[in-house]
Amino acid sequence: MRTRLLFWPCYLIFHPDCVKHVLQGNHQNYDRNLFLYKAPQAFLGKGLATTDGPSWLHEAAIQQPAFHRTRIAAFSALMTEVTAAMLVQWQSIAEQGRPLDIAEEMMRLTLRIIGQALFTVNLSDESDTVGQAFTTVLTLLGSYLYLSFPPLGVPTPRNQRMKAGIQALDAVVQRMIVRIRQRQVEREDLLSMLLQDQDEETGERMSDQQVRDEVLTLLFAGHETTANALTWAWYLLSQHPEVECRLRAELDEVLGNQMPSLEHLARLPYTHMVTEETLRLYPPGAMLMRRAIAEDVINGYTIPVGSLVFLSPYVTHRHPAYWDEPEVFNPERFRPERAATRHRYAYFPFGGAPHLCIGNHFAMMEAQLVLATIAQHYRLPLVAGQHVEPQVVTTISPRGGLQVTLRRRVRRANRATSSSR
Ligand code: HEM
Repeated sequence: MRTRLLFWPCYLIFHPDCVKHVLQGNHQNYDRNLFLYKAPQAFLGKGLATTDGPSWLHEAAIQQPAFHRTRIAAFSALMTEVTAAMLVQWQSIAEQGRPLDIAEEMMRLTLRIIGQALFTVNLSDESDTVGQAFTTVLTLLGSYLYLSFPPLGVPTPRNQRMKAGIQALDAVVQRMIVRIRQRQVEREDLLSMLLQDQDEETGERMSDQQVRDEVLTLLFAGHETTANALTWAWYLLSQHPEVECRLRAELDEVLGNQMPSLEHLARLPYTHMVTEETLRLYPPGAMLMRRAIAEDVINGYTIPVGSLVFLSPYVTHRHPAYWDEPEVFNPERFRPERAATRHRYAYFPFGGAPHLCIGNHFAMMEAQLVLATIAQHYRLPLVAGQHVEPQVVTTISPRGGLQVTLRRRVRRANRATSSSR
């Protein structure tokens, strides 16, 4: 579909063949030299998610090993432990029957997980200076995407708060880099991995400035997306009791009373399918943008140089030529035999090569472990009378949050099944 944004020609691309062309086949012709990607650079620096070309290639080569499935596995215990700690706090809320904004809660949880995984700090603790600085930057970042004027150098109250937040985060990251480089601390977090890793071909490591930029980028790219995926999973489960029932049956059978672990995930196929189907209906990165560097032809349409190209996993994931009853929540579509026959780009919640999300294994492991740990103990029915409406800012989330009630599951002794109050 062709349209215009002020003076720029824009192309909205939904067919999987065309998505493949832009993200993979002719990706050299499409860059991210766009406001949406450039605006955050003023705060986050030049991290992997906002750059292109040689600097992106160099940093991607250094970072990829840290995000390899085998190294990411080390964070599985952290994910369930942090979730279990949250459940302890839920007990009194459940007893009092108070509603809970699960969108906010998932945001706090995933922030805590990524903070701990990256540099062993609890970023969701607002009594902590780092936590406060992070919350300030996070809250203001969305407003800059809409209105970046006046630029950061002008001392408006908003700019001053933003600068103070960034400076506080910078200081803490810098302090940690120095301590790790001087070997004052031995840790197995992502920051330590990034500092140790090097480009296999050139042997180069990242400079402190590059590490700082990547760390901030990973903090932002690595928590809101997963939090929204989990929020939508709770929404969809609350609307589909039959799916929730099957999920619980699988968890009871495989886990019993044990805490979920990485080893369990291979034996929790339905949990995996529920996660995939949630990412189909509500892909957190609902819209990807590119700019055509040179003229191109896609499916017979000429794409002039400089055009904006929009790709939408949200729309393609509902393309009726590729999905039966596309609006229906049905995890069965992700049975391996059915998924194997599908067009690779009919489903791309994590984008595609070469800019495929570097955190995809981390995110999938986290989403499944969090889902399993919570669903083992709680049901989360929606508070009645809410109008749930998706909104897209940087990611897709329910406008105004999602209020749920915490219903503790009561497991019967010596039974693989369970009931709920
Ligand atoms: C459900 C969770 C997530 C979703 C749906 C998601 C989605 C995406 C998508 C669609 C892209 C491609 C953007 C583009 O092509 O313009 C991307 C890139 C990226 N993501 Fe994720 N993401 C998730 C979680 C994470 C996590 C947990 C991390 C880090 C720990 C992360 C870090 C990144 C980075 C650094 C990039 C840039 C990669 C590059 O351009 O080379 N993401 N993500």
